[in-house]
Amino acid sequence: MKLRAAIVGLGGISRTHIAGWTETEGVEPVAGADVNAEAVARAVEQGLTGYSDWREMLDTEKPDIVSICTPPFLHPEIASEALKRGIHVVSEKPMAADVPGARVMAKAAAESDALLMVAYCHRFHGPILKLKELLDEGILGKPIFFRGCFTGLSDMEHNHRGSLRQAGGGALMDNGSHAVDLYQFLLGRIANVSCRAGTFLQQMETDDVALMIFEGEKGCYGEVLVGYSVPPQFTEWRIAGAKGVLSLDDYGSGPVRFWSRETNEWTEYECDNSLTRFQRQFQHFIECIRDGRQPCSNAETALHTQQAIAAAYQSARGKGLPVK
Ligand SMILES: NC(=O)c1ccc[n+]([C@@H]2O[C@H](COP(=O)([O-])OP(=O)(O)OC[C@H]3O[C@@H](n4cnc5c(N)ncnc54)[C@H](O)[C@@H]3O)[C@@H](O)[C@H]2O)c1
Repeated sequence: MKLRAAIVGLGGISRTHIAGWTETEGVEPVAGADVNAEAVARAVEQGLTGYSDWREMLDTEKPDIVSICTPPFLHPEIASEALKRGIHVVSEKPMAADVPGARVMAKAAAESDALLMVAYCHRFHGPILKLKELLDEGILGKPIFFRGCFTGLSDMEHNHRGSLRQAGGGALMDNGSHAVDLYQFLLGRIANVSCRAGTFLQQMETDDVALMIFEGEKGCYGEVLVGYSVPPQFTEWRIAGAKGVLSLDDYGSGPVRFWSRETNEWTEYECDNSLTRFQRQFQHFIECIRDGRQPCSNAETALHTQQAIAAAYQSARGKGLPVK
């Protein structure tokens, strides 16, 4: 029997979840809920049963899985209610709009037999998996410096990402959390952070440019640069270590390149792009349900990312030391 998936929040990313549950073997999307009637109508056209109230959907449909695709401030309440009902949850990132919200979700997950995955999809991206494989093989020796830049030109003035209450932060909370999560995935947990986050070009409450530097628990320094108002030409992914440099010049598909200090040569490593990061993410979750194991991006890893981002915003408010 197929697992039945329902989706709460039928905006932009919900399309990826509906497609993901349609493509993944052993699952089918059955219902969707949104407060926006047009969004519900679109989902009904795609064959889902539509609801305006997500609680009613959970109680009527009794799905096996719920995808949470709402703005972040709603993730904790919806996830907790679903987990209490024994429904497996895939919540979009960031886990929540703040650390208390993320803790509520982590507690609900700990008290439930159902699984929670926070959809930090870049962990499943072909080039990132190749980077991880090479790092785990020790190609770099001791990692020293990580740089992750997710930049692009996106108008967020009329998006939930521009609202402090709904999103908890702007580019740093949104794309920065992906980059911080990738540092955690590749190189381990973060020990301390410093940050600048500002609103440069867009009229909104949250940051459209942010720069975060930090130190990992294993010592490797990290730098994350994100922005809704910084052209994608600024995108750069590099890790330096004792034995050389790993570089992902084309984030979309790779290859991963390694410069060896010993030989002074670059070597290219092809990436497995046969599946998208989303396809791998949804498959992974179903495998976790079947095997009864925690997903790779779980309450613990996502809470850590949320804490690192919160510490970064706190640092940004402090403005550092004056030069005099
Ligand atoms: N993993 C990724 O790469 C990725 C990409 C895009 C978005 N996201 C995340 O997905 C989430 C949603 O982003 P989006 O771009 O789809 O936003 P969106 O604004 O396009 O869609 C959000 C939807 O939630 C609905 N909604 C609001 N309150 C609701 C409620 N009480 N009940 C039901 N529906 C409600 C809105 O009406 C809207 O349709 C965010 O957390 C975002 O960070 C992740």
